[in-house]
Amino acid sequence: MILVTGAAGFIGSHACVELLNAGYEIVTVDNLSNSKREAINRVKQITKRDFLFYPIDLLDKEALEKVFIENKIKAVIHFAGLKAVGESTEKPLMYYYNNIVGTIILCELMTKYKIKRIVFSSSATVYGMPDQVPISENSPLRAMNPYGRTKLMIEEILRDLYLSDKSWSISILRYFNPVGAHPSGTIGEDPNGIPSNLMPFITQVAIGKLNQLKVFGNDYETIDGTGIRDYIHVVDLAKGHLKALEVVMNTFGVKVFNLGTGSGYSVLQIIETFEKVTKKSVPYQIVERRQGDVAAIYADTNKAKDELGWVATKGLEEMCIDSWRWQVNNPKGYI
Ligand code: NAD
Ligand code: UD1
Repeated sequence: MILVTGAAGFIGSHACVELLNAGYEIVTVDNLSNSKREAINRVKQITKRDFLFYPIDLLDKEALEKVFIENKIKAVIHFAGLKAVGESTEKPLMYYYNNIVGTIILCELMTKYKIKRIVFSSSATVYGMPDQVPISENSPLRAMNPYGRTKLMIEEILRDLYLSDKSWSISILRYFNPVGAHPSGTIGEDPNGIPSNLMPFITQVAIGKLNQLKVFGNDYETIDGTGIRDYIHVVDLAKGHLKALEVVMNTFGVKVFNLGTGSGYSVLQIIETFEKVTKKSVPYQIVERRQGDVAAIYADTNKAKDELGWVATKGLEEMCIDSWRWQVNNPKGYI
């Protein structure tokens, strides 16, 4: 049995589908602070499998302990956390408390019940401004906002945990920019309010919910002046977790992997590809740079390829098509 925290979220729900399809038994937890219970129902629909869902907060140690008592957990995939960069600068204490204390409570219970295998969702945001691209796992770490610092601090906590007890097995996954949706069009990204990330903003402009996209700067030193990122299909990303799970089940230690495609695309290239494959237009206006943005970042994917045996297989067109199908099928998200 695998415990999945944050299972109702964007990446967690896709990982649950892949785990169930691969034959794993899962038990799931989410406080639904940034997601809907309907996502769990849809995972069951897609996979035709049943599993337990506990609508609880990681900060509620007693409730979480019940999950450990009632289920034979072998490993944990830990997605639960708050992730909005802007909000984290306004409410840093909420971010530090939720993300860090939530993880500490989880690890305390894992220690108590001797389940010392965890796959953790980190982020490429821990690299901050990269000195060079593609960026490898041993590049300097310098998170630039409270959200990023929670990821960095949790990485350090997990490293210290292993140093204190070598029977832990920890896999830290640094995601690049997850986009796309399950090809069924029934689960996907359902941001609260106006999206801050590029792809959900584009799909909401294309469907007419938002008027136009603001492109944050066209004066970067990149092919067309707009920012370059490593967009990765969420189904590829979800599959990376299965590989990481195999590693934590079979080895000890702390291993860190970038999960990206290794290719960078500019904002204008994303718009162009999206318009081409969906035949929808995405009106946009160039505006000032967004504070804290880097010009270009994409992953060195060699370590994930060599040590996890994982590579992303889905290209940009598929990412756009699947994001769009989800948006069209669920114009109001999960209701
Ligand atoms: P998400 O917000 O869709 O999913 C996170 C889930 O965790 C949500 O369903 C939320 O309700 C739940 N949650 C938050 N705090 C909780 C708590 N204290 N107890 C129980 N549940 C709690 O986000 P996502 O995009 O699926 O991201 C999953 C993980 O990956 C997060 O840790 C995020 O920081 C990380 N990550 C995401 C991205 C991205 O671009 N989406 C990039 C890098 C890393
Ligand atoms: C942002 C976060 C990062 C987080 C990541 C994934 C910031 C500063 N960084 O990164 O910490 O890990 O999301 O959740 O918020 N863009 C526009 N117009 C928009 C939105 C985005 O032009 O309306 C551009 C951005 O300038 C960037 C690219 O599109 O060049 C991608 O932006 P976004 O999806 O927000 O991801 P990141 O900037 O990589």
